[in-house]
Amino acid sequence: MTSGWFANLNLLAPDHWPLRAYDVHNSITHSNPRPQVQGARGTPRSGAGGIGCLNVGHRREAIVRSVREQLDRFMHTCVQVTPYEGYIRLAERMNEVTPGKFPKKTLFVNSGAEAIENAVKIARAYTKRPAIIAFEDAFHGRTMMTLALTSKTHPYKAGFAPFPGDVYRIPFAYCYRCSYSLKYPSCDLYCARHLEDTFKRVVANEEVAAVIAEPVLGEGGFVAPPPDYFKVLVDLCHKYGVLFIADEIQSGFGRTGAMFASERYGIEPDILVTAKSLGGGLPLAAVTGRAEIMDAPGPGGLGGTFAGNPLSCAAALAVLDLFEHEDLLTRANELGDQFQRRGRDWQRRWPLVGDVRGLGGMQAIELVQSQETKAPATEETKQITQYCYEHGLITITAGTYSNVIRVLVPLVATTEQIDEGLDVLESALANVCDNKDAIAQLV
Ligand SMILES: Cc1ncc(COP(=O)(O)O)c(C=O)c1O
Repeated sequence: MTSGWFANLNLLAPDHWPLRAYDVHNSITHSNPRPQVQGARGTPRSGAGGIGCLNVGHRREAIVRSVREQLDRFMHTCVQVTPYEGYIRLAERMNEVTPGKFPKKTLFVNSGAEAIENAVKIARAYTKRPAIIAFEDAFHGRTMMTLALTSKTHPYKAGFAPFPGDVYRIPFAYCYRCSYSLKYPSCDLYCARHLEDTFKRVVANEEVAAVIAEPVLGEGGFVAPPPDYFKVLVDLCHKYGVLFIADEIQSGFGRTGAMFASERYGIEPDILVTAKSLGGGLPLAAVTGRAEIMDAPGPGGLGGTFAGNPLSCAAALAVLDLFEHEDLLTRANELGDQFQRRGRDWQRRWPLVGDVRGLGGMQAIELVQSQETKAPATEETKQITQYCYEHGLITITAGTYSNVIRVLVPLVATTEQIDEGLDVLESALANVCDNKDAIAQLV
């Protein structure tokens, strides 16, 4: 069924762009350059928020105004050639708003992957060590170094090797699918403590520049480790002179009910990487770290022609103002509670819903064939997202087994709008579960 906005969809001609590179709903039209993504009548509602870039909302007036004013001043100078106020003011604010009261510096670049690349360069320059430890189910981007750090093989890594070396991978605190078949809290955070074993068996600690982690896995399925996990992990890093890099590209900017998920875990990363909602819809990413670490690379070692574009910086300054003036963090937590209530109910009703999890407004359900075996319900997940799409709700999946449905709805969405979206998701679950039951009875 297609109706309203969907009925007018004109698919962009695949002759002009590598459509096959994406696995998304075809929701862009020539005729509608400014799609309403918050569910006005006859338009699709999006639970994806531009894949987590629109935490403060779509096309907020304050952001548009700030960008417009900058547009009237200048669009580009290249900050390495002619520094400008917007970049420097934004760096100062990022240094203030990120966890840790120590002196910090911030570098701006264009994309999340580029920021992670730079975080790795900076960690290596500072420690003079080569190795990086990353996690199973991690996602850090699609450039070569970030693919080396990313875990999921298809569709991200397969066919694109070789990748840069000196990257080692250890299990994450994915309690629903614990790699060690242990249970929290009786496990005593074995997976975090196991880092010391990795230093003995896999790569010597004096060779390791940094451990990099998403405080809550994004593409890996919105996995939020137990509250004391990162404290143990980061303390172990520091015991061995290893830096801790937090990839907050998806978990940052209010999504988890704190400005950064690191705060929810009570940690102060040595380097914190942001992107997505930082730019409020314009491309921008940041690497914020302890001043002495950020200063380690030599002159000209970091940078890029368009890095920290003036328009993107203007947008980001307005994003930070919005966080100051609106209680978006409380909204994120309310959104999380609302999702949890509905999700727990679905879990009781349908064995397909194996796990309901998240932190603040970073929420997801993991779908399984049976709650006992936990075999991933990948096909059913596809059917559910398709049903949602056909009924006016854009959802996106996640997880190594592509069996997680995640919520990245803008934090300004109202309770009613969120309920409307969850109603569609609920009827999709009912539809797919009923069909499954009917087929099972026939067999
Ligand atoms: C946690 C995380 N790291 C890195 C990236 C890569 O960011 P970008 O797509 O801007 O390169 C993403 C993108 O989804 C992400 O979620």
